[in-house]
Amino acid sequence: MVLSTGTNKIKTAVFISGTGSNLKSLINFSKLKKSPISINLIITNNKLAKGLKYGGIYKIKKKIINFKNNDIAEKKILNELKKKKIELICLAGFMKILSNNFIKSFKGKILNIHPSLLPKYKGLNTHKRAIENKDKYSGCTVHFVNEKLDSGKIILQKRVNIYKKDTPDSLGKRILAQEHKLYAKAILKIFNL
Ligand code: GRF
Repeated sequence: MVLSTGTNKIKTAVFISGTGSNLKSLINFSKLKKSPISINLIITNNKLAKGLKYGGIYKIKKKIINFKNNDIAEKKILNELKKKKIELICLAGFMKILSNNFIKSFKGKILNIHPSLLPKYKGLNTHKRAIENKDKYSGCTVHFVNEKLDSGKIILQKRVNIYKKDTPDSLGKRILAQEHKLYAKAILKIFNL
C-alpha cells in the first residue's frame, strides 16, 4: 500500500448503506493501539441507515449524500473527503456503485468487504446462491476496489462452512461475524502489521 503509518493514524472514511455492523467493528478496531487507522468520517447514501447511529455514539462526523445524480453525489463526497483529509476509504455494505473516475481518484486506497469467497458470487444474494448451488462452504473477502465490480485484488478471505439446515439468513449471520474480524485483519495486512 502506498500509504505509510507515521505517528498519526491513517484518516479513514467508512461508507455504509444499512446496519453498519462492519462500521462498528472497524470503529472498535481503530481505537486499539495497534490499529493504523482512525475513523474520521461516515458517508451514506441512505438517510435511514441504522449504522448512522454510530456517528452519534462515537462522535464521528456523518454525511448523508443524495444519490439522485451520481456525478453531483460523488463531487460532494470528494469534497467531504478533502475537508477531512481522508486517506483511506472502507466500503462496508455500501450499496452504490462508485464511478471509474471516483475510483481512479482514490486508486489503491479503497477497500471493500464482500460476503462470499470471491471470485465466486460477485454482486448480490451471495448466501442464497451458495446454498442453491449446494456449496459446502462460502465465506467473505476483503479486497481493493477497482473499476470492475467485486474484482479488485484480494487481501484476505475467510471460509465458513455451510450446513444442510442453513438458510441464507443463518449463513449470512455466521459469515457476518467473520467479516467483523476479517476487515481489521486485512487492514493490518496491507500495512504489514
Ligand atoms: C455485509 O455482509 C457486507 O459484506 C455486505 O453488506 C453487509 C453489510 O452489513 N457488503 P453491515 O451493514 O456492515 O452490518
